[in-house]
Amino acid sequence: MQAKTKTVWFCSNCGNEYSKWMGKCPSCGQWNTMVEKETVTGKRPVAAAVPGGGSKPMPLADVSATGEERISLGSAEVDRLLGGGIVKGSLVLMGGEPGIGKSTLSLQLPLRRPELKTLYVTGEESVRQVKMRSDRLGGDASNCFIFSETDMNAILEQADAVKPDLMIVDSVQTMYCPGVESTAGSVSQIREVAATLLRYAKGSGVPIILVGHITKEGSIAGPKILEHIVDVVLQFEGENRGAYRVLRSIKNRFGSTSELAVFEMTGTGLREVENPSELLIPEHGEELSGTAIAAMLDGNRPFMFEVQALVASAAYGTAQRSATGFDVRRLNMLLAVLERRAGFKLGLKDVFLNMAGGIRVTDPACDLAVIVAVLSSNFDYPIPRDVCFAGEVGLSGEIRPVPQASRRAVEAARLGFKRIFVSAYTHLDKTVTGIEVVRVPDIPALVRTLFK
Ligand code: TYD
Ligand code: MG
Repeated sequence: MQAKTKTVWFCSNCGNEYSKWMGKCPSCGQWNTMVEKETVTGKRPVAAAVPGGGSKPMPLADVSATGEERISLGSAEVDRLLGGGIVKGSLVLMGGEPGIGKSTLSLQLPLRRPELKTLYVTGEESVRQVKMRSDRLGGDASNCFIFSETDMNAILEQADAVKPDLMIVDSVQTMYCPGVESTAGSVSQIREVAATLLRYAKGSGVPIILVGHITKEGSIAGPKILEHIVDVVLQFEGENRGAYRVLRSIKNRFGSTSELAVFEMTGTGLREVENPSELLIPEHGEELSGTAIAAMLDGNRPFMFEVQALVASAAYGTAQRSATGFDVRRLNMLLAVLERRAGFKLGLKDVFLNMAGGIRVTDPACDLAVIVAVLSSNFDYPIPRDVCFAGEVGLSGEIRPVPQASRRAVEAARLGFKRIFVSAYTHLDKTVTGIEVVRVPDIPALVRTLFK
């Protein structure tokens, strides 16, 4: 059968495929996200031969389950994110906006771990450019093989010849499979490139780190299309202005998700920040109004960071609400709760919210610190620097308990905090010493205790 091209439509938000254009994507509900693409039908594109392929079904009883073999990447934080090193034969997608540090990290790992024979494939830079970056990063480049190529068949051929312990492909958008008749970076190419790499990884046992660009809008080439193909998705986040970068695991077939690691971009590559709390609580000489410290949990690790709010009279009648690193709908809900349940007239005020260090917060336990920062700015009443907060706020203004409250309190005590505000209904599974645990049932009680 001859290959035919056919036009299909992809949602650039969720990556779903449709045979016709629609104003609203039926699966994710976003408007105006359809993008037209040509795909090849008929003859399936033939992927390069996979060594060790052609496997047959076998009785489940015969499958050995002695755990996956993992390789350390020489970075304690990256190893931890992956669940204890990269699993042999796994495909890891590292996504992030351009310029955030994906190429830096993916080159830095092999340079700091020369025991691993690494094949670093770049479709974005010349071999000389990679060399210049590696000089800047330092480390041992003797076992790192650079290959500047975009043709997947050539890449797999060289991979077979080099037999690396680790392979890095930078980036999925620049690679193409010759069997697929569309340009590099198109949806069909991205899918095919990822699927080919996955087959190669599974067949050869070589772990692969695949770099992928995403834009703020979640471009068509975003990880959404690839998320279900790859084993692990690590995502780089961070404000462009700041030097701090958060690497988050958002999918992991071999470990837990919602773990995160913090890095600082320096002149010689990315530095691991082992204790993010110390960095996310800026040092102020004096107490400022509009800030509150949240005791957050990421995956399994408690850490503290500063929430900043600014409340000002709305200049043009309609109030503005803006939030960096926090869901603005959640902010609106918290403000509505303050308005209805605690009588604060924030309706005609602009409210700006910012999470320190440009991190993005999803832990509901941060609600309490958000409310306190907003009230503190509104009353121009500074909160003492040795007080922190961990509580979720409900629609009727009640403060709800959060998981692992005792671990948060222990971390707060370790960092020198004197008081932690939690829900009155919190169950502490162990006694916490060195810090006063203040239990508050609802927002009015919080206000009475805090803003005396
Ligand atoms: P890069 O890894 O090229 O980003 P990506 O691959 O995600 O597009 O990082 C780019 C930025 O990092 C660039 O602005 C230069 C800066 N940088 C440093 O500050 N220090 C370094 O040691 C390196 C290698 C890059
Ligand atoms: Mg790059």
